[in-house]
Amino acid sequence: MPEPTHNIRAALGGREALLRDACDRALRYLDTLPDRPVAPGQAAAAGLTALDFALPASGLPAADVLRMLDESGSPATVASGGPRYFGFVTGGALPVAQAASWLTAAWDQNAALAVMSPVAARLGDVALRWVTELLGLPAGTAGGFVTGATMANATCLAAARDAVLARHGWDAAGAGLVGAPPVTVVVGAEAHATVRKALGIVGLGRDRAVLLPADGQGRIDPRDLPAIDGPAIVCLQAGNVNTGASDPFVPLIEWARGRGAWVHVDGAFGLWAAASPGVADQVAGVADADSWATDCHKWLNTTYDCGIALVRERAALTAAMEAAASYLTGEASEAMHLTPQSSQRARGVEVWAALATLGSQGVAALVDSSCRLARRFAAGLRAAGFEVLNDVVLNQVLVSFGPAERTDAVIAGVQEEGTCWCGPTTWHGIRAMRISVSGWSTTDDDIDASIAAVRACAARLGG
Ligand SMILES: Cc1ncc(COP(=O)(O)O)c(C=O)c1O
Repeated sequence: MPEPTHNIRAALGGREALLRDACDRALRYLDTLPDRPVAPGQAAAAGLTALDFALPASGLPAADVLRMLDESGSPATVASGGPRYFGFVTGGALPVAQAASWLTAAWDQNAALAVMSPVAARLGDVALRWVTELLGLPAGTAGGFVTGATMANATCLAAARDAVLARHGWDAAGAGLVGAPPVTVVVGAEAHATVRKALGIVGLGRDRAVLLPADGQGRIDPRDLPAIDGPAIVCLQAGNVNTGASDPFVPLIEWARGRGAWVHVDGAFGLWAAASPGVADQVAGVADADSWATDCHKWLNTTYDCGIALVRERAALTAAMEAAASYLTGEASEAMHLTPQSSQRARGVEVWAALATLGSQGVAALVDSSCRLARRFAAGLRAAGFEVLNDVVLNQVLVSFGPAERTDAVIAGVQEEGTCWCGPTTWHGIRAMRISVSGWSTTDDDIDASIAAVRACAARLGG
């Protein structure tokens, strides 16, 4: 353990040397990323005890803190930014997103209000406009950057809740929900868990929603829809987290609109299908909804945390999110009046940088290559005799290796072996390996090496 220091300036000083050291260490980390085992070993996790000490009374030199962080912390990271991480829905950050994030960290801006950061406000607006255009959403759609799709779902559902109740004469933002007319909430049986969580957060209840049955790919079946009236919200899915399939928006939105319901779409990653002519048909009609939740840290490959809440009617979003106080100058179009948070990091800068660099064709190429590589992964495993459970319509693949115990053993073996990382799931009662291809740096060779690693793990298990 380094000698403690009592001099705060000495401890914090040497900014240039410190930042250069951080940059060198970060570059070394990124250079080795493609070649490290994707999951850290037990020794790396055990090494974290070096960082777990009693809070020092007088602090340690910053250079030592950074060194300790790198020496003990870097080995205990998951190489999720690398090319062979297929867990959850994880896009490793684009180099330009990472670079913009470093510069933005140096700016250390509060993006709550334009007066606090003109650059954050302007680039946030530009980035939101570009995202809206790319995703084919209505011009004038309002949006705000939030931590991720979970909070984007909650933000949109808060706007939805207030809007549908306002249409029935109830001021939910002011009066709350106690005594309000009941709101009917309709959700697909395979909606993402965070939609239910968001419904709980906004007081509409995780468990009181009407569940619509889903087909074998997780899509709501539009043939048998319930009667609804009164204030109502219909939650649809662009991109099922297991299969990648999307709800049939055209008939579902037509049905919901005919009943005066607000339509919300969780499109954490699937909404980005709209940015690629190759797969845009998967989400045909999605632009007719009222609100959309999405992430940039998934398929746009920005750093965490970077979600977006998008709402067709700006007034509905500000009605739910506005915070008025005499010292908070600014207009209703400002970030803090469009999101749950007040102080916030300048997420839009990184999104602006990623989109400016990729352009619309680059985003389409990113989406297309992920889908193509997912199909390659599926074809390779199918050819090896394993069962692919889903139609690979986007970037998600589900693979069974036989009985649940054997599938779990293959997944554990793959994670342990370290060439790639895939997680487990259960799809309609069948245990499966879940593969999500979402990153810019993944190549055909990475997929082939991963197929070989999975095959070898399965072969080692025999049977
Ligand atoms: C379909 C879907 N919705 C919502 C979420 C939650 O997103 P976040 O982790 O950014 O809050 C995810 C995350 O995987 C997702 O795949």
